[in-house]
Amino acid sequence: MPRVLSGIQPSGDLHLGNYFGAVRNWVADQERADAFYCIVDLHALTTSIEPGQLRRQTVDAACVLLAAGLDPNQCTLFVQSHVPAHQQLTWLLECTATVGELRRMTQFKDKGGGQETVRVGLFTYPVLMAADILLYNADQVPVGDDQRQHLELTREIAIRFNNRYGGVFTVPEATIPKVGARVMDLQHPERKMSKSVSSPLGTVGILEAPEEIERKIKKAVTDTDGEVRYDPESKPGLANLLSLLAASTDGRPEQLAENYDRYGDLKKDVAAALIEALRPLRERYAELDADRGEVLRLLGLGAVQAREVANETYARAADAVGLLAEP
Ligand code: TYM
Repeated sequence: MPRVLSGIQPSGDLHLGNYFGAVRNWVADQERADAFYCIVDLHALTTSIEPGQLRRQTVDAACVLLAAGLDPNQCTLFVQSHVPAHQQLTWLLECTATVGELRRMTQFKDKGGGQETVRVGLFTYPVLMAADILLYNADQVPVGDDQRQHLELTREIAIRFNNRYGGVFTVPEATIPKVGARVMDLQHPERKMSKSVSSPLGTVGILEAPEEIERKIKKAVTDTDGEVRYDPESKPGLANLLSLLAASTDGRPEQLAENYDRYGDLKKDVAAALIEALRPLRERYAELDADRGEVLRLLGLGAVQAREVANETYARAADAVGLLAEP
């Protein structure tokens, strides 16, 4: 069985990009892989999140992931900070990665890379992410397209470390879905749907009410040529809607386009398909939300399982670099 690991930040309401780019595939992967899924609260500290909000959103994220179908009997779901080895391994990897590599990360550049006031944690963010992955000897990492560069860096770091110290780490691969890997903002279809860029009409939350989903899809930006065709270059808004329809109906955007003559009809079907795809999740979320004690218990069990694997890998890495074992 391949080992799979992925992570998600608890930094606000999860949206359609998170769902179709990642979470939905996590649910499928738990059946065919030995899967570890991590709520990366330490990564969320690179933003200006309030302490109470971080705590609350960490549990919210767990509720959403469980509602989406993660089953703690089939996968290990845990909170990153509950496994101290993530921070311990990060240091060893920071002594392997280079400043030049980290400077080239587009996410860092996009979030104000050149400024003196930017947090050090934002700069070293990809190294912590590499630690998340390498600690679990993951073969595959299911992510959206925006994480591709971070995965490349993780591979580079793993290979360099292995070359220098012996084969400690598995070199992972990104698994990026064919449809849904890049869900775009409904109002600005040239940029990805995102938690951090505030675009209330452009972003659809996984738990949003059906009427809101309908309203936002109806208002989604398209173009004026009036022809329904899948062309992400010259018709990004329409291509995004077709991709969302494809992602929620398991179809292909090029083919689906042939069924429509009018943008309005397409929008109606996109909204209906999204509402239907998310309905079970919304219903289960309400149940889990009412029993947060149980969710915390499950996270506790996940942490125990995760620590077992992570501590073993960290001990091997620490030994390989020459740290003296505790007498
Ligand atoms: P995060 O929390 O931003 O997003 C979680 C997952 O959702 C995907 N995603 C998208 N997919 C398609 N379209 C979009 N608009 C969209 N927006 C987000 C992301 O690609 C991701 O798969 N650095 C990571 C979290 C992380 C991680 C890890 C991931 C930390 N450690 C280890 C994998 C393995 C992040 O910020 O994801």
